[in-house]
Amino acid sequence: MNILVVGGAGYIGSHMVQMLLENGDEVTIFDNLSTGFKESVTGGNFIEGDLSNTNELNTLFENSQFDCVMHFAAFSQVGESVLHPGLYYKNNFCNTLNLLDSMVKHDVNNIIFSSTAALFGNPEYTPIDEKHPCNPINPYGQSKLMIEQALADYEQAYGIQYISLRYFNAAGASIDGSIGERHTPETHLIPLALQTATGKREHIKVFGSDYDTPDGTCIRDYIHVLDLCEAHYLALQHLIKNGESNIFNLGNKEGYSVLQVIHAAEQVTQRNIPAITTSRRAGDPTTLIADSEKITTLLGWTPKHSSIHTIMEHAWQWEQKLAPSS
Ligand code: UFG
Repeated sequence: MNILVVGGAGYIGSHMVQMLLENGDEVTIFDNLSTGFKESVTGGNFIEGDLSNTNELNTLFENSQFDCVMHFAAFSQVGESVLHPGLYYKNNFCNTLNLLDSMVKHDVNNIIFSSTAALFGNPEYTPIDEKHPCNPINPYGQSKLMIEQALADYEQAYGIQYISLRYFNAAGASIDGSIGERHTPETHLIPLALQTATGKREHIKVFGSDYDTPDGTCIRDYIHVLDLCEAHYLALQHLIKNGESNIFNLGNKEGYSVLQVIHAAEQVTQRNIPAITTSRRAGDPTTLIADSEKITTLLGWTPKHSSIHTIMEHAWQWEQKLAPSS
């Protein structure tokens, strides 16, 4: 198949590119390298371009007939979205409309969209299934929800078929350690904990210890990046067979608190990770745990690397590669 991976130089996109190439698909990567890295792209046809530029998009679609678009390009930091909401609405919402309009213009009908658990807000019940109401408490979640709504409208108006995959907390790295999570600056819990283990950081901050959870810190459902990519692959096969549009939650149905994650990092690295409790970070929901039964039932997805220790081991292998001197 001929697949366009938008944002294929980013964390999750680059793992997807690697999986598609391993499966023998033809892959074009479109990425503006604002948060991604060219070195993370392990093959395929790389095109540096920006979703805000409709000329670049038109050229992209004129030069190749894609069977499906996978859209990973977005800003994804909850805290940053609270501070700079305009960035999130422009990049995540407006630029995705440009992509959808180009697809319509060039008769490309299949898209797999990277959505997020952040669109649920503070859950009314856990684990969170797809029927749970969407009440985002930060602009990041809101921007992704607006795209889910646009996708439904584009389906009705133009026949675009879509699968929206709502990731809970993506983590881990490729099994061979060739690619992994990399953000500049890094804001995510697991890489920060591991960077503290390598000595790159003196300590990790725990954002709030007064949440309504057993140890007072926020709980998240960490899901291996390769399991997320596997879900995309199943979604791709579904869409190619003219399967219906749908929305799925992707997680392990198991939550870990910030302190539990830091403890797991200490166990895997066999190093001490000093932690300092600070105030809450704006926009953080207390607990996010996924119910992924729907995608298991309909597409046969089951996470293969679900243990926090496996996730941490792969992330640690990658982090050591990034910091070989420590
Ligand atoms: N945290 C800390 N200290 C840090 C960094 C994070 O205590 O230095 C805490 C956060 O407050 C949060 C938890 O660790 O409670 C996880 O934070 P991350 O920044 O790693 O991830 P988020 O839960 O904020 O967000 C991630 C993705 C989003 C996605 C969301 C879905 O970045 O894109 O998971 O659950 F929407």
